[in-house]
Amino acid sequence: MSNNLSGKNVVIIGGTAGIGLATAELACEMGAKVWVAGRSQTHIEHAKSLSAGRFEVRQADTHDADALTAIYEEAGQVDQLVSAAVGGERTLKPFLEQTDEQFKAAFDKLWGYGKVVRTGSPFLAEGSAITLVSGSPARKPTAAQSALGCVGGAVENMVRYLAVELAPIRVNVVSPGTIDTAMFDHFGEEKQNRLNSMTASHLIKRPGAAAEVAEGIIFAMNNRFVTGTTIDVDGGRLLS
Ligand SMILES: NC(=O)c1ccc[n+]([C@@H]2O[C@H](COP(=O)([O-])OP(=O)(O)OC[C@H]3O[C@@H](n4cnc5c(N)ncnc54)[C@H](OP(=O)(O)O)[C@@H]3O)[C@@H](O)[C@H]2O)c1
Repeated sequence: MSNNLSGKNVVIIGGTAGIGLATAELACEMGAKVWVAGRSQTHIEHAKSLSAGRFEVRQADTHDADALTAIYEEAGQVDQLVSAAVGGERTLKPFLEQTDEQFKAAFDKLWGYGKVVRTGSPFLAEGSAITLVSGSPARKPTAAQSALGCVGGAVENMVRYLAVELAPIRVNVVSPGTIDTAMFDHFGEEKQNRLNSMTASHLIKRPGAAAEVAEGIIFAMNNRFVTGTTIDVDGGRLLS
């Protein structure tokens, strides 16, 4: 397999934890120069200690154009732009029990991804690519996940439009299933049991690892012939 990431500038918004951070690690191993960004100091400190100087860690919110632009300016040119930020509320309620505000708050992910792309596009180099992250609810309707599913579906469709409008810049989206990351830390000590029961009916009966999804993102970044595509890394959740 060719390594098209060596020496390239990779910016990962939502890269201070979970899938984005695992992607940073792999991109570093492939010889890329990597910047990751997130909001909270806790994740920033965690990413810094894991990085040990191998990649740059910055503070930025997907909704903050100035903070995003400062990172792109620092990179100078961006060869790979990734957003793996959660970016909005994870509204988990039956549709009729949600308020308009809760439904809209889930879409903050989409507005943030739009801002990452809009502010980043002037810095994209020749031969560059954008990779975003959706999620299996987009194409696997499950009770109480309508907000997540609608946002994920919107991200996937935005990617197809961007792939057409920005070509030859490549634009892809990776769709994770249930992955063991900080996103589920609110379960506390119950986290492992809850993740196990959430995945018990999947074809691969376990939660995925962040590194497994990162491999899907790296594929989208590295392969120069893939664009406008959704790559599922979901342990077969869509078929279960
Ligand atoms: N884990 C799963 O099972 C799963 C399933 C389907 C889809 N996904 C999607 O996969 C992506 C990555 O999720 P993950 O599981 O890796 O989550 P995670 O472990 O919570 O990591 C999310 C990262 O994004 C950052 N972030 C969140 N909101 C942000 C914002 N508004 N601006 C900038 N950075 C932000 C977080 O740092 P701060 O919070 O400090 O900002 C962190 O660095 C998300 O888009 C998520 O919706 C995950």
